[in-house]
Amino acid sequence: MHIGIFETSDAASDAAAELIIDLFSRKPHATLGVATGSTPEKLYARLRAAHAAGTFTLKNSSAFALDEYVGIAEDHPQRYRNVLRRELVGKDKTGLTEAGLNTPDAGADDPEQAALVYDRMIGGSGGIDLQILGIGVDGHIGFNEPGGSLVSRTHIEALAGQTISDNARFFNGDTSQVPRRCITQGLGTIMEAKRLVLLAFGANKADAVAQLVEGPISAKWPATIMQMHPDVVAITDTAAASKLEFADLYQERWRLAKGE
Ligand code: GLP
Repeated sequence: MHIGIFETSDAASDAAAELIIDLFSRKPHATLGVATGSTPEKLYARLRAAHAAGTFTLKNSSAFALDEYVGIAEDHPQRYRNVLRRELVGKDKTGLTEAGLNTPDAGADDPEQAALVYDRMIGGSGGIDLQILGIGVDGHIGFNEPGGSLVSRTHIEALAGQTISDNARFFNGDTSQVPRRCITQGLGTIMEAKRLVLLAFGANKADAVAQLVEGPISAKWPATIMQMHPDVVAITDTAAASKLEFADLYQERWRLAKGE
């Protein structure tokens, strides 16, 4: 795992944007896995700026969301499809088309079948070249909460109490408005992406980041399965990295990879 530790979330988002823009300059039709939550917002702003500058476009690409709430109204602003539309879709954003944006059909009559179909769609697209990830305070990626299978496929998940209270800020601070269920790419599905780029900002993510990088692989901290992936880049600010025991080594290794 490569760990980039930056003073600020702005500098960290610059570094993540650079990785993505570089991929698309080499492979313009690459498939991007996209995350929601507040963490990737600055990254998406940089991708929009690069699109406006003509150095980056998703117009020829497909994007796959990690997850979607079950039981949320189609026009709800926090439905992840709507969030990602606002962030990425259109010529005034990143060039991604409406048809190019794939999200689990969580409103389907049979959400379990919809999860299966979504998993197959990802495989059928040739797979995800680069998956953007955030991390939950409890170590979830996508919405894979503690205690689940480390090799799961896309499935219906129950949100942990911690996640419901964390995400209440998107629902007027009211936990009762946060959906209890979601469809999420499974850990096995996420692990099939060719490259994983995880972002984590703020002191409240420090425990999860320490477990992700240095903890034992365990369903208690689902993100730890990423230690088994051959190409992971974790990009954090100093607060999220504050509990890493070997931070100096990771920074040295980062410099080595940059040829410094
Ligand atoms: C959300 C999403 C995750 C996200 C995480 C952290 O609920 N399902 O994909 O990475 O929780 O969210 P935030 O970036 O807002 O801290």
